[in-house]
Amino acid sequence: MFSPEITGKRFIYKGFYMLSAMGVLLAQYFNSNPQHLRRMKGLIAQGAEAKLYDKGDEILKERFEKKYRLEEIDVKLRKFRTRREAKVLSRLQEMGFPSPKLISFDDKKMEIEMEKIDGPLVKDVLESSDCKKLCKEMGVLVRRMHDAGIIHGDLTTSNMILKEGKVFFIDFGLSFFSEKVEDKAVDLHLLREALESKHHTIWKECFAEVLKGYNDRNVEARLEKVEGRGRYKGKKK
Ligand SMILES: Nc1ncnc2c1ncn2[C@@H]1O[C@H](COP(=O)(O)OP(=O)(O)O)[C@@H](O)[C@H]1O
Ligand SMILES: [Mg+2]
Repeated sequence: MFSPEITGKRFIYKGFYMLSAMGVLLAQYFNSNPQHLRRMKGLIAQGAEAKLYDKGDEILKERFEKKYRLEEIDVKLRKFRTRREAKVLSRLQEMGFPSPKLISFDDKKMEIEMEKIDGPLVKDVLESSDCKKLCKEMGVLVRRMHDAGIIHGDLTTSNMILKEGKVFFIDFGLSFFSEKVEDKAVDLHLLREALESKHHTIWKECFAEVLKGYNDRNVEARLEKVEGRGRYKGKKK
């Protein structure tokens, strides 16, 4: 049909056209979001709802828009979580708890500036460290946090950093204030599930150490009930 020369030329034209179109789109994007260009370099993590930027000694956490949510709800939720995380960070700071110090927050830009905790995620080093010691420390910290009426809401080893041999907690966007035994037990249950899924070869001994560190019979008894409910639900399915 076409000589190889013509198809070859068409291919080059099409390619050129597509590249120019992409260039125009990228230029428009960065023009409307100049901050993105400035910050792109420091992007260290992008989770389901926030982008994290490394600014040297500080970390900037920015909750981005979720297009699938109704705009009004999205703004409210991001504002709420930004404020909540900032509030919990400053409360923990007052207690001298190992978590990032709050530097500033802006609930219009949905941003939090906090201290950078330099070190690996506990998730990446648990197997190769003294896991019993780390898990006991985790339990002691969860207990301290719960005693101060703070429930983390997302206790996983991805939300813990090991700095100079000490465990630090991060990511307080889903945390809340409660003194209820049930909320404390559910927080521990989530940690147990996270250990089981991410550290399946050592999770049992790990969680036993968490409970030793936590050291509260009352909450432990409730945890057994919470887990019993979970198994019951699982069986019925
Ligand atoms: N204060 C901090 N210091 C060092 N690294 C951090 C800090 N906060 C977050 N990070 C890094 O960014 C990642 C995502 O941050 P996180 O607050 O857990 O947000 P997400 O809600 O996306 O999980 C963390 O797993 C960690 O690697
Ligand atoms: Mg996280």
